[in-house]
Amino acid sequence: MNVESIRRDFPILQRTVNGKPLVYLDSGATAQKPERVIEAVNRLHREQNANIHRGVHQLSSEATQLYEQARERVRTFIGAASREEVIFTAGATASINTVAYAWSERFLHEGDNIIISEMEHHSNIVPWQAVAERRGAEIRVLPFDEEGRLMTEQLDTLLDERTRMVAVTQASNTLGTRPDLRAIIEKAHAVGAHVMVDGCQGVVHGGVDVVALDCDFYAFSGHKLYGPTGIGVLYGKRELLDEMPPFLYGGDMVDRVSFEKTTYAPLPLKYEAGTSNYIGAIGLGEAVEYLRGFDLREVEGHEMSLMRYAEEQLRRIDGLRIYGSTKDKCSIISFNVEGVHHYDLGMILDKLGIAIRTGQHCAEPVMTHFGITGMCRASIAMYNTREEMDTLVRGVERAVRMLR
Ligand code: ALA
Repeated sequence: MNVESIRRDFPILQRTVNGKPLVYLDSGATAQKPERVIEAVNRLHREQNANIHRGVHQLSSEATQLYEQARERVRTFIGAASREEVIFTAGATASINTVAYAWSERFLHEGDNIIISEMEHHSNIVPWQAVAERRGAEIRVLPFDEEGRLMTEQLDTLLDERTRMVAVTQASNTLGTRPDLRAIIEKAHAVGAHVMVDGCQGVVHGGVDVVALDCDFYAFSGHKLYGPTGIGVLYGKRELLDEMPPFLYGGDMVDRVSFEKTTYAPLPLKYEAGTSNYIGAIGLGEAVEYLRGFDLREVEGHEMSLMRYAEEQLRRIDGLRIYGSTKDKCSIISFNVEGVHHYDLGMILDKLGIAIRTGQHCAEPVMTHFGITGMCRASIAMYNTREEMDTLVRGVERAVRMLR
């Protein structure tokens, strides 16, 4: 893997911040975009913009073709069996809300329960809480231990014949943990429950094969996968999506409309009401094609070796604690330093040109678990380098000296 050549693909990495070369370690929040994606989006706006699925004219048919090609690219990338199972949404949050609302209408009843892992992002907690409250269902929590390992074995006591859904991440955005999804899915299916996997961090660190995984639903956002913002994907098993009612209603998701009765379009359009973000979808298709030019295992190996290298040095800093230490975690380093506020540390790093995330990372229950108000997080992507890890470590050392 030639990291220098990859870096040249990402124009933003050439800029400086506060007079220093940018060290971007916040790809877990949003990844930077390669030229190819930026160009595809520009070209669409300049040369091919027209609403999809709606016109007989040339521009509309070009845009429609590109949109459906993007769907096919995503389908191949995640290993879905059919294009009908790949739905474009506004992002992972929209994908999970779509499932929570539409699925619960059909499958969730009073007295049922939903199991959520303790390490979920708010997007894979709050929609379930909302629908559970509406339907009179119970929320149960699958905890993690001090290492950040999800305690899958506890599913044996949490799951019962009234469990309808298990909501779990493929890779935690705070701890990096990759839960044992196969075991979770197997156990859930054994009692007839469905599984919603939040793939936001997982899809970018090693990819996914949704058929091999056998998850029922899978969600991710384009912007964390080097694609544009405002676009995401919902994968769902066809038979479930067919059984569920639509979520949003309007144009493009209908078959026949009259004041007496409306019938709905077949999948995937049933879940794509209104003018979709076709330019974002096509941009995401470009990002996926860009990634297909790499061996994702090799990319992941590179990211993980940087993480281990940085962690080894960070651990030498007096009072520094890393949250999440499972062996196969993805390239996320969350940490705090005793006596130093995470926010102050992030501000000083910013002055040094280093971008990390600070705060609760939309995962307040994880903070509650550790009894803290927030943490620092350096998230590592394909374009990061060993030198940047050194800069991070030196930056943290310097910030700690200043703040203590
Ligand atoms: N969910 C994103 C993160 O983890 C924003 O930072």
